[in-house]
Amino acid sequence: MHKRNRLFVSIALVYGLLGGLVAILRLIDPALIPGNVPRMHGHIMLLGLILMMIYGIALHVLPRFGGFPLYSERMADWQLYLANAGLPLMIVGWLTFIDGWVIAGGLLSYAAIILFGLNMILTVRAARSVSHES
Ligand code: HEM
Ligand code: HEM
Repeated sequence: MHKRNRLFVSIALVYGLLGGLVAILRLIDPALIPGNVPRMHGHIMLLGLILMMIYGIALHVLPRFGGFPLYSERMADWQLYLANAGLPLMIVGWLTFIDGWVIAGGLLSYAAIILFGLNMILTVRAARSVSHES
């Protein structure tokens, strides 16, 4: 497995632990963590645990399904950087109730989703055009 894809999966697991901890602390005492805690917990789980896990597994598996390489390793590297800059900024925004941070982080997370989608479409397209030629 590519180091970047393994990193996506490991980071997902760390976010899962963090999101679970946030929720449990919230249940123990709602005053322990400041900010919009449910929103923060939800997105640590969904953008952190679930989406990063999907990123890591999909980048590894989808090209292998077709037997063709990923369209762009560089796009996937940038996807890792953007996703992992975006979510922490969103968390800071929800901790401090400063919407600007959530918007900035949201745009970076969104850019990562776009890169992922494009890379997947172009991978499948490239695979299809080669298989049509043969
Ligand atoms: C470790 C286990 C988990 C615990 C103890 C937990 C606990 C909670 C609690 C107590 C809330 C409500 C917070 C409130 O309104 O005060 C909540 C909301 C939520 N949880 Fe979890 N949760 C867990 C795992 C997950 C997972 C795995 C996901 C998603 C994959 C998830 C997604 C959400 C979402 C989307 C919300 C709603 C957030 C919002 O209102 O914006 N949770 N969780
Ligand atoms: C591009 C990244 C994302 C950004 C910037 C973002 C931002 C937000 C914001 C600002 C809210 C609060 C809306 C409001 O109460 O007015 C919200 C709610 C929510 N988001 Fe996200 N989100 C993103 C990605 C996701 C993803 C990938 C999922 C699920 C897979 C998700 C699930 C939810 C859920 C379940 C709620 C709560 C809805 C409710 O309260 O009824 N979000 N999100």
